[in-house]
Amino acid sequence: MADPKALVAGNWKMNGLMASVAEIEKLNALVTEDAAGCDILICPPATLIAILAGKGIDIGGQDCHWDASGAHTGDISAVMLKDLGCRYVIVGHSERRADHGETNDIVRVKAGAVQQQGLTAIICVGETDGEREKGETLDVVTSQLTGSIPEAATADNTVIAYEPVWAIGTGKVPTTDDVAEVHGTIRALLRDRFGDGGERVRILYGGSVKASNAGELMSVPNVNGALVGGASLKADDFYGIIKTYQ
Ligand code: PGA
Repeated sequence: MADPKALVAGNWKMNGLMASVAEIEKLNALVTEDAAGCDILICPPATLIAILAGKGIDIGGQDCHWDASGAHTGDISAVMLKDLGCRYVIVGHSERRADHGETNDIVRVKAGAVQQQGLTAIICVGETDGEREKGETLDVVTSQLTGSIPEAATADNTVIAYEPVWAIGTGKVPTTDDVAEVHGTIRALLRDRFGDGGERVRILYGGSVKASNAGELMSVPNVNGALVGGASLKADDFYGIIKTYQ
């Protein structure tokens, strides 16, 4: 089966002000019709979603509540994200898991809420440095994955992002052999879960991806794109990663 079309997704995290609209406009100008060999997504902070939606580049959420509406001060729902035109929502990012105590159970219900709206959930998994040192990487990723994919998920509304926690924002990246091992394990789990459909689920690598290492990382088997933090904030840097797929 052919590899799924790659997805290069930018996660702006808690960065971006009104002035950042210019970066999206610049990115749009850089990405011409025939140049984009991959799908492109930016997940800005919630404050900018309404402003950036409709400017050409796909816009997604960084998180959502599992309820559609109600008394949840400070939260936003998948229904609201859909209302603004989002097609993707990141769930279970390691920063949400660490800063907000999000367990696999919470991530699973959030992903379910996303998928119930007809949106695609980008479900994040990844080991800490301590877990890697103890040789627990594959066990951790396996239990996060099996615990975080909703019962009703399909191969078409699920994207997985493998992000080793120790590689996020640190400039450190795993070896290509290590990435291949984890992504191969995730692919096997997806095949078990979705049958042949498991082949078309995109598995993104995330953690210190930049233009200078994207070519190597994106050519690893079962790597179908990237989830990019720091290097997605500037259009030129992000475009350097997108160009890997031209
Ligand atoms: P980074 O972040 O590219 O800045 O390492 C990746 C992420 O957390 O999604």
